[in-house]
Amino acid sequence: CGIVGVLGNHEVSPLILDALKRLEYRGYDSAGIATVNRGHLDRRRAVGKLINLSDVMVHDTLPGRSGIGHTRWATHGAATVENAHPHQVGRVAVVHNGIIENYRALRDELGTAGAQFSSETDTETIVQLTSSYLDQGMTPVQAARATLKRLEGAFALAFLFEGEDDLMIGARRGSPLAIGHGDGEMFLGSDAIALAPMTDRITYLEDGDWAVITRAGAQIFDADDRQTNRRLQHINVEAARVDKSGHRHFMAKEIAEQPAVLRAALEQYAGPAGIALPEGLEFARADRLIMVACGTAFYACQVAKYWFEKYAGLSVELDIASEFRYREPVLGPDNLALFVSQSGETADTLAALRHVQGRVAQVMSVVNVPTSSIARESDIALPIHAGPEIGVASTKAFTAQLQVLALLALHAGLARGHITAAEHAELVAQLRSAPGFVAKALDREDEIRRITETLSRARDVLFLGRGVMYPIALEGALKLKEISYIHAEAYAAGELKHGPIALIDEDLPVIVFARHDDLFEKTISNMQEVMARQGQVLLISDAPGLAAAGTVPRSLQMPTVPELIAPIVYAVPAQLIAYHTALHLGTDVDQPRNLAKSVTVE
Ligand code: G6P
Repeated sequence: CGIVGVLGNHEVSPLILDALKRLEYRGYDSAGIATVNRGHLDRRRAVGKLINLSDVMVHDTLPGRSGIGHTRWATHGAATVENAHPHQVGRVAVVHNGIIENYRALRDELGTAGAQFSSETDTETIVQLTSSYLDQGMTPVQAARATLKRLEGAFALAFLFEGEDDLMIGARRGSPLAIGHGDGEMFLGSDAIALAPMTDRITYLEDGDWAVITRAGAQIFDADDRQTNRRLQHINVEAARVDKSGHRHFMAKEIAEQPAVLRAALEQYAGPAGIALPEGLEFARADRLIMVACGTAFYACQVAKYWFEKYAGLSVELDIASEFRYREPVLGPDNLALFVSQSGETADTLAALRHVQGRVAQVMSVVNVPTSSIARESDIALPIHAGPEIGVASTKAFTAQLQVLALLALHAGLARGHITAAEHAELVAQLRSAPGFVAKALDREDEIRRITETLSRARDVLFLGRGVMYPIALEGALKLKEISYIHAEAYAAGELKHGPIALIDEDLPVIVFARHDDLFEKTISNMQEVMARQGQVLLISDAPGLAAAGTVPRSLQMPTVPELIAPIVYAVPAQLIAYHTALHLGTDVDQPRNLAKSVTVE
């Protein structure tokens, strides 16, 4: 969910709508705004995309120079108007991101005391609680503080009060929240990008902080209610500029700009002056690397595992963040931990990072948003320099993550004496050729569009790959599920015979990723097993691979590329297959149903 708050000098509803637009990547199940206008607290809410809320507000305006807004990704309670934020009870309205874990107990307690609930959300317990404190005679600041003391879970909150035109209270526990400083105006937002058109002066709240905000400034208190100072930072507003640059969707733009993005990122880390990775990386003495992420970023880690093992002789342990922290992972002083996240705010990944802090030699992160919580809380953060990624399905961030992870693995190899300086230089040169080969892979777009006509009629699709192509198959299946809603699975090609082969019939498209390498023959045998059972194979390989494979129902030719960069190049058809299938089906490519780009709840 996304939060925004404004104490302004002009009507705030249009400003809040604009800021919410920038936060829509955090969810689009419903949206709402509350304002205080000459003391009067009121709100408007609508289900679905933000455009529905702006429609409502054209006819039913919401005046006021102080306001809070919200865009929701549903957790507790369906996407209905009743469950939409802001929630209001009596003299207080609240917008909330995160989950209140003890809401059932609070709801029972408040219900016994006579509170009438009008939604199914955990958020309503917050406003009910604050409202009851106000009724007991507390001031708004006292009531908010007393409420915060009762809440368990991870959340970010903004409060607005009847009769208070110059007051907003923000609180952060787990979920991110930033204060923006204007001239006689103050702002609150889930991220700096939301506030970028209004101010570039940002203070990030730390965990446990809460703030009393007026037009004159913000008073920040820590978890123990001690008044505290947090650093004011200037953020790069230019970096927050986002448009589709003539493309039909953000996803199309982000796929197309990969060669430029990869080139720019390489420039940062491996420009003409040589390798420029941060100082102090501790690969030389490490005995194990632990990598943790979610979704697409996890598949990037899965590719990188092969690289760290092969080029650096470093043992890698890999887990998805939501599983990792609920195991009892054995951590040691010679372990390194590496967290990968586009947004840098994914709640599970952040929680996993906090779980290892102080228990391993070094905490590193590979992120796209350098000001994010994960970046700020790691010992060493390596930005991927991909620019804002708006399409919910991650594309350019994936290939840019792979590129930085490859550089890191090669650096580790050199530091550990696993590869020579000459080998290192040769491999970095190969990496520098990746943007050019990605551009060549993009040239196959028309062919992919034709192939996806039949694919869009499938009910299920199977993706296969071995070695580094296995995570690419996983990523292909994830992309297809996310934006076309076609059920897709990926298997390690060799695992096919242990179960999924039972699914094969003449209706099942099977997409095989296989560069012509040491594993090629084995993958092709698995492909033959599929063809023998009438499975509809699409083989994605290079010229030598296609020549060696013999007759296949369908094929797609990739450029012939060095082994190291193959996953980066083969990610392109995985993305384009999903994109064009979704176009055939007419789904909402940039904002597919039920998903959010940044998931800040566990
Ligand atoms: C969400 C998105 C995925 C993304 C995952 C991890 O579920 O829909 O596309 O891969 O979060 O996000 P992160 O920002 O941590 O990379």
